[in-house]
Amino acid sequence: MTSQVVVSAPGKIIISGEHAVVYGYPSLVSSIDKRVELRIKRSKKNYIYPAKVANFILRGLRKTEGFLNNKVGLEIGMESTIPVGRGMGSSAAIAVSLAAGISKIVSNKSNLKEINKLAFEIERLQHGNPSGVDNTVSTYGGFLWFRKETKDFKTFSKVKSGRKLNDIVLIDSGKPTENTKQMVNFVSEIYKKNPRKVERLFQSLEKLTRNFLRYLLNEEELSLRELIMENENYLENLGVVSESTKKLIRSIENLGGAAKITGAGGKKGNSGILIAYHPRPYVLLNFAKGNGITTLQVKLGRKGVKVEKE
Ligand code: MEV
Repeated sequence: MTSQVVVSAPGKIIISGEHAVVYGYPSLVSSIDKRVELRIKRSKKNYIYPAKVANFILRGLRKTEGFLNNKVGLEIGMESTIPVGRGMGSSAAIAVSLAAGISKIVSNKSNLKEINKLAFEIERLQHGNPSGVDNTVSTYGGFLWFRKETKDFKTFSKVKSGRKLNDIVLIDSGKPTENTKQMVNFVSEIYKKNPRKVERLFQSLEKLTRNFLRYLLNEEELSLRELIMENENYLENLGVVSESTKKLIRSIENLGGAAKITGAGGKKGNSGILIAYHPRPYVLLNFAKGNGITTLQVKLGRKGVKVEKE
């Protein structure tokens, strides 16, 4: 029986379809080369450490039959290179690696479908009404086309992207005041107030997400700059981008580039990580440096959850 395991899972960026994906519209998403690594050890003491994660794991696990029915004690150590609270899927990567690690320790199993299901339960406890896209891409890795068809039924397909999007730069607009749950709730409020407008926006987003797919598959010569600008425009109309972030994005556009939020965004202060593009990426890097803004360069389409050591 495994008594210690090291597991890792990647963060993600949403290329197109955030928020709309909660309402059954498609999203296009990619894992990245930033990961969470958990070292999970069986412990004689009947507890999970650190206490901060214990509660939500236990509640999540109880919903999934067969887990922790023998009350296994666990000690958990964590390292991560995924920026926290910025829309890069840090909490989903933790949920996925917890699910994978605990599954390995408790039942010696490593089944991606089960891991994904359990990680989704953990995500639900944190975010209320997640679409499941974050935990799915963190589990399976790569580029995914993902759709939540009903509350519990999701479909997804791996996308063999002909483009690796190596020239995008991630720009940190700063940590949003709101968390994902609050932003998802905000969209649900405006959906209730103005369903026709929001449905129209989501329908436009679906068309655009499909164009991003065509772009990745090299099916059509589309302009990445225009795709990103259109995407950002819909997200601004949805109200999930703050004033200061809009200003930052306008400056990038004025330099000949484009940028969009990725993930839940933020309204009051900052809006998290931006996917930024410029035909000459050094223009963005210089701009960010000159303005004291943090940038990140990531590789996309990386491996999903992995047992590193057992
Ligand atoms: C969060 O990464 C993306 C949202 O669409 C929420 C979700 O899909 O659960 C805002």
